[in-house]
Amino acid sequence: MPRRPTFAAWLSDTNDVTQTFLSAGQIPGLINMAGGLPDPVTWPVGELAELARRAVAEHPGDALAYPPIEGLPALRDLIAARFSAPGLALTRENVLITTGGMQGLDLVGKVLLDEGQVIATQSPAYLGALDAWKPRRPTYRPMRLEAADFVAEPAFRGAQFAYAVPNFSNPTGRLVGLDQRRTLVAAAEATGTWLVEDDPYGTLHYDGAPLPRMLTLAGQNRAYDGPVIYLGTLSKELAPGLRVGWVIAAPEMIRAMVTAKQGSDMSTPGLSQRIALDAFASGLTERVLPATLTLYRARRDAVCRAMGEHLGDLYDWEVPSGGMFVWATARDPGLNTDRLLRVGLTHGVCITPSSVFDPEGRNRRAIRINFTLNDADRLAEGVVRLAAASKAVLAECLAPAN
Ligand SMILES: Cc1ncc(COP(=O)(O)O)c(C=O)c1O
Repeated sequence: MPRRPTFAAWLSDTNDVTQTFLSAGQIPGLINMAGGLPDPVTWPVGELAELARRAVAEHPGDALAYPPIEGLPALRDLIAARFSAPGLALTRENVLITTGGMQGLDLVGKVLLDEGQVIATQSPAYLGALDAWKPRRPTYRPMRLEAADFVAEPAFRGAQFAYAVPNFSNPTGRLVGLDQRRTLVAAAEATGTWLVEDDPYGTLHYDGAPLPRMLTLAGQNRAYDGPVIYLGTLSKELAPGLRVGWVIAAPEMIRAMVTAKQGSDMSTPGLSQRIALDAFASGLTERVLPATLTLYRARRDAVCRAMGEHLGDLYDWEVPSGGMFVWATARDPGLNTDRLLRVGLTHGVCITPSSVFDPEGRNRRAIRINFTLNDADRLAEGVVRLAAASKAVLAECLAPAN
């Protein structure tokens, strides 16, 4: 038999940690605190069913034909109007509709990266972004935005783009402050480096008022042509299965991404776009949000309370003011969290270990805990199991090798 061609080299550049936690949801009785998953109770199923029916019955040209690559013009106009602000004038030329926020990340990589080029990224960074850019084998310049000595300009210089999730980052749940946002925008303007603002969690704020987007801070009182590439999505605000996201950027960037999208999926399903358009236009997204925030705020409080009771001597963490995650760092550097993922599964709990969020793959001391999928009782039980699993991993390190 002739040998089949080998797979592309980047595919061997991975580990099974991601597949392990993604497939863990199938294990009966397991408490899954690994994924960034919304609770299905937050989906307005009846309203969405009616919007879907009307999309097909009343707008078959939008819902069932091949849509334009850029997206339905009415949805692009709506996004442009929704995100315009004093000093930030957006038109449909600034907007591309994508298949989830994930496609925005993929297109950024496709249009900006040649093999080995530099990305300055907030670190730890969203695993899906690292996955999207992997085929280009980029060189990462990690940015610790929260470090007192962080200076943006040297980090940006020579990078193709800088990447940040300023609202309740995945994985750390951190909020980038206003001064820091201004600093990042100023560094992008001074160096010419693009600045990718990935914002799936911006609407999920539980304490205090939202901060201005970096996109807004980069507004120039004329048609928008700035360095910020803003990535939005309906996944956390409404429902991830719609797979509707958007990019807002300078027209030259939108045109480049349209060329790349043509060779990816050609267009985002018109049915989903039409539902998204009508969901925004009818105020559905605003109507569902208060109940979602109340639910998730209570769960954030529940998981942090349980962590205080059971994990206080094992980990350090900050209470996030929004989003879906708590990031906890083990006090003992010997607590290997790749190992904890596996030991946790035998204790009936699944978390995501820090190694998959580290652009350099080295951090094995922290975990990401999701608090939006499970109710308060299951979260508390998950934390108890996590404490037992963490102690078991620490005991393994102390056990004499034979
Ligand atoms: C930071 C970040 N960016 C992008 C995405 C992708 O979102 P979507 O479901 O819209 O593809 C996610 C999803 O969890 C995310 O956490």
